[in-house]
Amino acid sequence: MKREKFGSRIGFILISAGCAIGLGNVWRFPYITGQYGGAAFVLIYLLCLVLLGLPIMIMEFSIGRGAGCSIAKALDRLEPLGTKWHWYKWFGMAGNYLLMMFYTTIGGWLLIYLFKMGAGSFEGMDAAQIEGEFGELMGQPVLMTVCMAIVVVMCFGIVSLGLQKGVEGITKIMMVMLLVLLIVLAVRSIMLPGATAGLKFYLLPDFNKMKEAGIMEVVSAAMNQSFFTLSLGIGAMAIFGSYIDKKRRLAGEAVAITVLDTSVALISGLIIFPASFAFGVNPDSGPNLIFITLPNIFNSMAGGRLWGAIFFLCMFFASASTIIAVFENIIAFAMDLTGCSRGKAVAINLVAILLLSMPCVLGYNVLSGFAPFGEGTAILDLEDFIVSNNLLPLGSLVYVLFCTTRYGWGWDNFLAEANSGEGPKFPKWVRPYVTYIVPLIVIFLFVQGYWSKFAG
Ligand code: ALA
Repeated sequence: MKREKFGSRIGFILISAGCAIGLGNVWRFPYITGQYGGAAFVLIYLLCLVLLGLPIMIMEFSIGRGAGCSIAKALDRLEPLGTKWHWYKWFGMAGNYLLMMFYTTIGGWLLIYLFKMGAGSFEGMDAAQIEGEFGELMGQPVLMTVCMAIVVVMCFGIVSLGLQKGVEGITKIMMVMLLVLLIVLAVRSIMLPGATAGLKFYLLPDFNKMKEAGIMEVVSAAMNQSFFTLSLGIGAMAIFGSYIDKKRRLAGEAVAITVLDTSVALISGLIIFPASFAFGVNPDSGPNLIFITLPNIFNSMAGGRLWGAIFFLCMFFASASTIIAVFENIIAFAMDLTGCSRGKAVAINLVAILLLSMPCVLGYNVLSGFAPFGEGTAILDLEDFIVSNNLLPLGSLVYVLFCTTRYGWGWDNFLAEANSGEGPKFPKWVRPYVTYIVPLIVIFLFVQGYWSKFAG
């Protein structure tokens, strides 16, 4: 079977950006920034993106392109004879499934909020009633399951159309619409009376706030966020490397994707913080920010029903672009591993993902007695913790070691692959940094993350 390829370079960049741009940008980034005190956190996050995320993304793309397949066979093809790097494929794939196990549920919530906002259901409600709405939704497993299933079926439907017609065709349109709509929303938010206080909180670093949270805790959260937002460490990016030719060097492509991803996160902040401050709402309410705080804000805003609907449409596009991209990776993995057809891989995984998404849905109602990290936490938090605090950083470490040590693919092979084609080169002089310093930083922040979660 001939391997499918992207139709264009812009397709590759937008689909990879679509995989990166997701709830991490429009949901997680604003609430973590709110919790860790605003601009100072943003600065550290940007450093993590450049110093850690970017080189690791180049490595993932190089491995995908060098091997010409998903992680189902990529490390098997590139590793020195007799080594066991390929065992990593199971770990990486587990990361893709686990990510989808909670992502699809949130996609379902967004669908519901999009319709509710558009239908004006929140109009006339006060803050307590809006909070009650979210609580009520959590108590409706059937509704949540139906919406999750709609998202799963729709996204697998797109993937089943093939790489160019389905994934590339649809994601390209969604990403362009997302960018335009986000900019319109940001302009609206910045123009609100009283928005300046929000801009200050967001854009002027206040390191004292960071000290309150504990500097190392903030830095480790920033690293996890940078890996999450770029979908690194589980082969979700490597797959797109396998669909491109060798005409362009990979550093320039990775920079373009990171810039797009970061722009979307930063613009989301420009929407949320000015609006929060304009309506006297503290933006540190955590994950609830989107589903409880924001509908309140839209309620107080002139034309809020329309703005709110556009906002949730953006959120939905962002989450769908990631789900489609990760489903494509899951499907490619099955096809590469077993040689089965796209249709068969879609059919089996559709059923698997529907079933695997159920614990997250039920975690808020039937299984709500199970609070993995104490009161107020649910199965979603456990799944998110396994992926974000474990599989992404440790998987990224595997990529770095594979590309830099002679016991793996090795530096020369990696550099030759990353630098084939035209465009900016991945510089040779960073070798000591990526070989020694990057692994140490990742290990240190990984341990620190555990420390602050469980002992701090
Ligand atoms: N990169 C994806 C996101 O940011 C997982 O949501």
